[in-house]
Amino acid sequence: MSKKSVLVTGAGGFIGFHLVNYLKDRGYWVRGVDIKDPEYQASSADEFRLLDLREMDDCREAVHGMDEVYNLAADMGGIGYISGAHASITFNNTMISAQMLKAAFDAKVQRFLFSSSACVYPQHLQDVPSVVPLKEDDAFPADPEPGYGLEKLYTEKLCEYFCEDYGFQTRLVRFHNVYGPLGTWDGGKEKAPAAICRKVALAKSGDAIEVWGDGKQTRSFMYIDDCVEGIYRIMRSDYSGPLNLGTDELVDVNGLVDIVAEVSGKTIHKRHDTSRPQGVRGRNSDNNRLREVLGWEPSIHLRQGLVPTYAWISGEVKARAEREAGIAHIPTIAAQ
Ligand code: NAD
Ligand code: GDD
Repeated sequence: MSKKSVLVTGAGGFIGFHLVNYLKDRGYWVRGVDIKDPEYQASSADEFRLLDLREMDDCREAVHGMDEVYNLAADMGGIGYISGAHASITFNNTMISAQMLKAAFDAKVQRFLFSSSACVYPQHLQDVPSVVPLKEDDAFPADPEPGYGLEKLYTEKLCEYFCEDYGFQTRLVRFHNVYGPLGTWDGGKEKAPAAICRKVALAKSGDAIEVWGDGKQTRSFMYIDDCVEGIYRIMRSDYSGPLNLGTDELVDVNGLVDIVAEVSGKTIHKRHDTSRPQGVRGRNSDNNRLREVLGWEPSIHLRQGLVPTYAWISGEVKARAEREAGIAHIPTIAAQ
């Protein structure tokens, strides 16, 4: 039997990079596509193409000959980024998502997975830190996060219409804040776990770091290994409705800072800045439907996942500081 050929778009980004490795380990032939190369390590994809998926011709080239498509490409970032560029993000993601869906359908791809987001949920259901976990059906009546969340909700529906009208096999995954090694950690697109790891890595024990908001806002955070496992299981399932993919371990941002500080071994104080973007006040994932459909849910605790994440980011911070200071990394010669 010949290998199944799969396409991962956004393979130069955080989740896509890890998903390519996961699929390669399972014996798939993988094509990775992105508008840029992976930032930190070379892709393990069998083939990596640089394409702009806002262009229909590039979407058609990307899906050609593929059995399945994991569509992860998006203009994406943490709350500082997505709340500051509504027009460009909404336009870019509308073009990518709608055209990738149509190109995959026309190319007779067997399954198409769309990476949606917890940002589809109504903002008024997320206005207190002790938030009720969000169930899939809560998405309507709609009041998603402007721009980025609105496009995700619209594209979910578009996928459902292709499924209902044409029998096209689509899968819809609503990620809750994903973190881990090789995720963006600076430059403005980083999310809270990576940003806090960077700030702690740069701080000396006893320093205060800047924390956006009063720190009482809550989230659940999912480690990347759980994320790619969940993506694969959802693709293989026969369920085509939207599914949350996240943990239900609710933590406030102050708690996140305290865990990172503990992992780093430093004493870290907080300097809250309520003028910075904060997004919703509280957000958690209700995993009942995920458990029903998959008999599985993400299980890696935040502290556990922050150990390798902090180790990687503090290594990056150190390597950059050495580069900037002009110190070449000289490998140690082991004593004979
Ligand atoms: P990421 O930014 O690391 O990866 C997205 C990739 O898409 C990037 O490498 C980017 O270059 C690529 N891309 C953007 N525009 C493109 C274009 N025109 N053509 C081709 N490639 C293009 O983000 P990620 O964290 O890996 O997210 C992957 C997917 O998961 C996205 O759809 C995102 O919206 C969704 N998501 C992620 C999270 C999270 O916490 N990481 C949460 C919710 C949803
Ligand atoms: N980014 C960032 N940087 N956030 C910080 C920081 C910081 O230095 N300090 C505190 N925070 C707070 C933010 O104010 C926000 O309240 C919370 O940490 C989480 O911020 P993000 O991780 O940036 O984003 P989010 O959880 O609001 O939304 C993210 O997750 C969605 C899925 O759950 C975004 O990445 C969305 O794009 C994504 O879809």
